[in-house]
Amino acid sequence: MKLIILKDYQSLSLCAADFIQQQLAAKPNLVLALPTGATPLGLYAELVRRAQKKQIDFSRATFFQPDEYVGLAQNNKNSFAFYLKKNFFAQLPIFPTKVNFFSGAAKDLAKVCLDYEKAIAQAGGLDVAILGIGQNGHIAFNEPGSALASRARVIDLTMETRRANSTAFGKTSAVPHRAVTLGLVDIMSAKKILLLVSGEQKAQALAKAVKGKVSPQVPASVLQSHPRVVIMADRLASSLINS
Ligand code: PGA
Repeated sequence: MKLIILKDYQSLSLCAADFIQQQLAAKPNLVLALPTGATPLGLYAELVRRAQKKQIDFSRATFFQPDEYVGLAQNNKNSFAFYLKKNFFAQLPIFPTKVNFFSGAAKDLAKVCLDYEKAIAQAGGLDVAILGIGQNGHIAFNEPGSALASRARVIDLTMETRRANSTAFGKTSAVPHRAVTLGLVDIMSAKKILLLVSGEQKAQALAKAVKGKVSPQVPASVLQSHPRVVIMADRLASSLINS
């Protein structure tokens, strides 16, 4: 694991944008998994800025989502698909053609999950999975207890996760109880993983993920056994790593 500690959120966002720009320069048809949440907003804003200035070109890249709420259609403003469109795809000079949304609103979710894994394989596999981490150590929506051998599937969200994600919904009870998520195997199959971590509320989860024992109780700890993981964390988020 390569750990890069940045002084603040702004530096983290710029450093992550540099990383993605380099990956895309080396492989214009890059296959990416794009996370949602508060953490990557600065990264998306910077990538959009660079794309508008023609410093970076996403037109040949392929995109996947690590996760999505069950029951929320793409046009629901709380869906992750909507978030990605609003904060990234729709702001690029040209809306990319190879966007694969994870259909959490479909009827047959088992089939959606199987098909999503197939689509990733057909695209040649994920080159870079960009991820955030939950305060409970989740990556994508692999909640504590997720098997290290888990695949794309429907998962019950913990109360902690629903609470953490409740702002957009107004109240925790309005947050869906279930999600579809790539499994830990799908994530570990990515050629490179970029984990973004910001804020002191993530310090404990990050310390456990990096220094603790690899365990389904801390799903992010599985990243310790991936050969090409880059973790970018700001000072607050990394405050417990050296203690
Ligand atoms: P956040 O979400 O960026 O909003 O903290 C991260 C996550 O829960 O994976």
